[in-house]
Amino acid sequence: MADENLQSNKVAVLTIPGHDPIELPILKGTEGPEVIDVRALGSHGYFTYDPGFVSTASCKSKITFIDGAKGILLHRGYPIDQLATQTDYLQVCYLLLNGDLPNQEQYDSFSKRVKYHTMVHEQINSLFKAFRRDSHPMAIMCGIAGALSAFYHDNLDIYDPEHRYLTAIRLIAKIPTLAAMSYKYSVGQPFIFPKNNLSYAGNFLHMMFATPCEEYQVNPVIEKALDRIFILHADHEQNASTSSVRLAGSSGANPYACIAAGLASLWGPAHGGANEACLRMLERIGTVERIPEFIAKAKDKNDSFRLMGFGHRVYKNYDPRARVMEQTCHEVLNELNIKNHPIFDVAVELERIARSDDYFIERNLYPNVDFYSGIILNAIGIPTNMFTVIFALARTVGWISHWIEMNEAEDSRIGRPRQIYVGTPTRDVIAMANRKPCDTPNNEF
Ligand code: CMC
Repeated sequence: MADENLQSNKVAVLTIPGHDPIELPILKGTEGPEVIDVRALGSHGYFTYDPGFVSTASCKSKITFIDGAKGILLHRGYPIDQLATQTDYLQVCYLLLNGDLPNQEQYDSFSKRVKYHTMVHEQINSLFKAFRRDSHPMAIMCGIAGALSAFYHDNLDIYDPEHRYLTAIRLIAKIPTLAAMSYKYSVGQPFIFPKNNLSYAGNFLHMMFATPCEEYQVNPVIEKALDRIFILHADHEQNASTSSVRLAGSSGANPYACIAAGLASLWGPAHGGANEACLRMLERIGTVERIPEFIAKAKDKNDSFRLMGFGHRVYKNYDPRARVMEQTCHEVLNELNIKNHPIFDVAVELERIARSDDYFIERNLYPNVDFYSGIILNAIGIPTNMFTVIFALARTVGWISHWIEMNEAEDSRIGRPRQIYVGTPTRDVIAMANRKPCDTPNNEF
């Protein structure tokens, strides 16, 4: 039952009263702690209980490694700060998909291939028209991503490696186009075609801010900052949205449907929706004088308010992405000559106060990637309701890389968690005339 390649020659012994000891192999990956392989438990009539999968590995993966205690994030072994400062987003896409950074020739051919696929089917324009003008762009993205399978069904054999790779390229190429279209639609402007002589980030900025009447000059500092934001969001191991993509894909579902599942999961404020929620929170706080009031709310167990952009399931140290993001934030504000940015001032002071407060120290709550990203996006003119779309755009490569890895894995099985049933024990149906009124009628809300 144990995985040959991961065997550590150690076993854990589980002692259950009235049962012979159960030996569970201990596995070891290339990095990270040892892992107890509980797969054999089922044959002994037991399974484990782990809400939120805090202690459960759902798969093996070669893509990303996080050491939350030390604040380390590696993609295919490379530290995130080196990738953010020494490569660009398309190199990171290549890395996540192929296992190593490209040389110049591989990079040129990969970029060319991605650029070739940036346009979307003309009929997709009509799909946009079915949405209300004031729709949240993430609502549009969830719908449109799923609809892509209706347009690109010619290459949807999930067992064919070429089809899988082509789908990955199409998604990386088309998601920025669709993201910009969702913005243009909401402001009533015509869609702008992709411009393939621009960089990946430059093209996105152009599709967002150009109009047919006016040329848009891409500012290289903003272009670089956006590219860095894309890199910092490209992948993050088995987070909620990536796990959603894998779970949807484990049934053999088509990749566009799986990406739609990822988008839906990402949208929540505890995950990718945090960047939008964080900026709205900073705006609501408004001035540094009001920070203590909000710190008190965040600490109050009877108040549902949380400091957005703070805390992380895995990082119990500074999120390494947040460090790069803070630095980028300084660069962008300098370039744009924004001397007094009230929201930035609130963010810096909020971080200072929270990091010296026992509540946050004891719980290892540090700023995460979303704490500063919203300020950068705001400064470069991206509307707040597009923040999570930008996260989704960047994360698409992570989702599809995991989807491919899962489809390549020999031990991949349909995802099917167990549960502890806490409902009514077995009982018999009685005739309606003899039934007492149901005392938990949800349908009366
Ligand atoms: N503000 C105030 N208290 C917090 C916060 C926060 N942002 N985050 C966690 N806590 C407290 C929480 O109340 C709990 O306290 P206690 O032990 O007294 O009950 C303790 O810290 C542990 O929290 P948890 O909810 O058990 O931790 P989790 O691992 O389930 O949740 C989290 C992680 C990211 C959902 C949570 O920290 C949070 O809601 N943060 C704000 C939203 C946010 O910024 N999300 C973006 C995450 S990074 C981007 C991404 O990858 O999606």
